[in-house]
Amino acid sequence: MTRSLVIGAGGQIASDLIPALHRRGDEVRMLDLLPPERTNGFRALDGYFRSAGDPGWTKRWTAADAAKGSAVPEIIAGFRPQEVYLLTALLSAVGEGKPGLCLDVNMGSLRLCLESIDAMPAPKARLLWPSSIAAFGPIPGHPGGLPDPVGDDTPCFPTTMYGVTKVAGELLGAWYARTGRVDFRSLRFPGLLNATPPGGGTTDFANEMYFAAVERRPSRDFLREDTRLPFMYMPDAVRSMLELTAADPARLSRRTYVVAGLSPSAREIAASIAKHVERIHPGHRFEAAFLPGDPRQKIADTWPRTLDDACARRDWGWRAQYATLDAMTPALLDEIRAKQG
Ligand SMILES: NC(=O)c1ccc[n+]([C@@H]2O[C@H](COP(=O)([O-])OP(=O)(O)OC[C@H]3O[C@@H](n4cnc5c(N)ncnc54)[C@H](O)[C@@H]3O)[C@@H](O)[C@H]2O)c1
Repeated sequence: MTRSLVIGAGGQIASDLIPALHRRGDEVRMLDLLPPERTNGFRALDGYFRSAGDPGWTKRWTAADAAKGSAVPEIIAGFRPQEVYLLTALLSAVGEGKPGLCLDVNMGSLRLCLESIDAMPAPKARLLWPSSIAAFGPIPGHPGGLPDPVGDDTPCFPTTMYGVTKVAGELLGAWYARTGRVDFRSLRFPGLLNATPPGGGTTDFANEMYFAAVERRPSRDFLREDTRLPFMYMPDAVRSMLELTAADPARLSRRTYVVAGLSPSAREIAASIAKHVERIHPGHRFEAAFLPGDPRQKIADTWPRTLDDACARRDWGWRAQYATLDAMTPALLDEIRAKQG
């Protein structure tokens, strides 16, 4: 039985990662700044654990700050996890409003976690820390800002404080790995979609469209309809985390990997929802309103449109299963409807 620790356990990714770890038989401990019932992920986690016959799951939850204090070092020293998934962050849109806090939380939690794992006696935990496509931004002198697609070796010029913390964190983790201190691994994720409300990122508009369709209300989206961004359905994202964490270190040519799912425009997402919502709500016409002028448009305009994940495919056999809207949209609509009861 693998001992796994999930830090930032109340968020969007954790709401699917924790059930996946539990299903595979792990002993899972959880930590978040908030108590479980105050997190976005509570509904999904409580539903999962109750159906798995484990209604007392919140006893394995610690409410504490992961960016400072003694909670993380104590849990890592006492529980001796074999795998740590560090998911704490202030996301791109929230981080631009609170840049100092974004720097403190994103870098502070990574530093404390790396130091705590480094202090473990062998065998030490592997650390999986998600990065983001926010690591990229317009390259000085490059026509159009970024190549299309963007790949692992595209130079990183982040435009947001969130992106700055992602690039800095990738480099910090790579140093800990290179010097043999911590087996650090990272994924540059695109916008992620599941049934849990997201935490304040630039790609949240897409989540909102799917929620609006299931709730039979019009959707108000904050980006232009021609905005094309990379996305990934959460089951693929969780699988990529588990696969990279399990990968033989000898096969890793780098410590951070781009992973790709699909790259629709906002208009294409709306059309796909309109096509597939008919099955769950016969006769319902989905309407999306695209409202220009939001500050998040400026962030989206600096991000990659499509991604090339050749290194992940080559090194550890990665391949997304949900690579088209026709594959993802029906599954996501069903998932949101089922979880909303
Ligand atoms: N969701 C996406 O679309 C996406 C895309 C790319 C990368 N990522 C990355 O994946 C990771 C997880 O993202 P998410 O969407 O699940 O985030 P989220 O915002 O949904 O969840 C983050 C969780 O961390 C907790 N947290 C915040 N500050 C904390 C602190 N000081 N101590 C303890 N807990 C704290 C929050 O309460 C929240 O439950 C982040 O590193 C994020 O940058 C997410």
